[in-house]
Amino acid sequence: MDAFVIEGGTPLKGSLRVNGSKNAALPLMATALLTDEPVVLRNAPRLADIANMRRLLHELGCDESHDDEGVMRLHSVDPSGSHARYDIVRTMRASICVLGPMLAKRGEARVSMPGGCAIGERPVDLHLRGLEALGARVTLSAGDIHVATPPGGRLIGSHVFLGGAFGPTVLGTANVMSAATLAKGTTVIESAACEPEITDLAKLLTSMGAKIEGAGSPRITVHGVESLGGADHQVLPDRIEAGTYLIAAGITDGDLELTNCPLDALLALKDHLDRAGVCVEVIDDTDPLRATVRATRRNGLEPLTVTTHPHPGFPTDLQAQMMSLLTLASGNSVITERIFPERFLHVAELSRMGARLFRQGPTVVVSGVEKLVGAPVMASDLRASAGLILAGMAAEGTTTVRRVYHLDRGYERMERTLESVGAKIKRVDERELPMMD
Ligand code: EPU
Repeated sequence: MDAFVIEGGTPLKGSLRVNGSKNAALPLMATALLTDEPVVLRNAPRLADIANMRRLLHELGCDESHDDEGVMRLHSVDPSGSHARYDIVRTMRASICVLGPMLAKRGEARVSMPGGCAIGERPVDLHLRGLEALGARVTLSAGDIHVATPPGGRLIGSHVFLGGAFGPTVLGTANVMSAATLAKGTTVIESAACEPEITDLAKLLTSMGAKIEGAGSPRITVHGVESLGGADHQVLPDRIEAGTYLIAAGITDGDLELTNCPLDALLALKDHLDRAGVCVEVIDDTDPLRATVRATRRNGLEPLTVTTHPHPGFPTDLQAQMMSLLTLASGNSVITERIFPERFLHVAELSRMGARLFRQGPTVVVSGVEKLVGAPVMASDLRASAGLILAGMAAEGTTTVRRVYHLDRGYERMERTLESVGAKIKRVDERELPMMD
């Protein structure tokens, strides 16, 4: 297993280009199951989760390739398979997004039920309720979810409500919207997720021939069509990767330019950073989803109240990184997690670096300190890892972050990116590190 060794204290300076979005690319890839023609995705990121999804689509009868320029070609050539096995699903929960497309096109799908993960329980009840509303028959056996189209072989358009206790569901919306494209009649999804990744998915489906209105709003209408064709699509840049680097500029008191930055999808972060004393200046927003921006700090960091919400609110996927930033603010901040109330595995690790954090349920009070001090820490989920790396770059001395395979699921060679703007960071084999107590 790999680890990062970080020497903190160097401000990041220079220019970075944001890669394609992991969370957009995963459901985009699943659209290949909706058509007999090829789907081409450009700017597809080279990440562990993306490689897992390719492996899954391959098992499900798709020819697939992903070249060095980020061009991915997917072509469903053998529609006989319909089983997403536990072996793959357990490595990546997002495998669930093959459920809707496979059901709609192949008439049935069997996907191993995803288990809990480091950030909480993560049920899929809303996905299933949505597909059931379209007439799917849903059964559970031997740990697999089995869904089948109603007699007649086609899903039936319907009214679907997708709001849950923690708000709308992103991948649930992707599943139901994708499945509804091939249903008979019209589907209206209420309380749909408004995330930019859903808008990007609707854009690809539309270029494949789907009839979709309202994507990006809480009500999406899908008029079912008989069949979908192939398409060529540019994947949205990754708003969470971009946000992580904007926060990195703030926490290291650096000066970073980001190109290909989906600024329009990051307005909550921009606003919070502004109030914390980190200025995100727009250099070129001719295309607001592929803008050029510059992040610098005004003076010291100011404390904030941050509450995560579904889009366009502050994203849960930037909560850990923001917490790292606020450990160095001059006062008390309050961070409340409303999407995944258990997503706080970074709290104990940041405390090892001298952060003063007090958690009660879904809320953490962050009492700002003058400095963080390098320490050996353990990454436990993707975004927690990113938070620890940011803290390590701002800390005095050496930080080692173990288990960075979590990070590799969502950031393309982050150490190289950070090194290119001045960070002192290297990837090593964990066995080279001294034993931890
Ligand atoms: N939920 C339910 N029932 C469901 C589905 C979700 O109760 O059937 C709950 C969840 O437990 C959670 C809330 O609804 O409390 C929202 O979950 P959502 O379904 O929106 O999450 P997701 O679609 O499984 C995606 C991203 C996550 C991101 C969340 C929230 C992908 C591949 N994953 O997950 O990204 O945190 O939306 O924005 O798109 C990450 O990249 O690190 C990551 C975890």
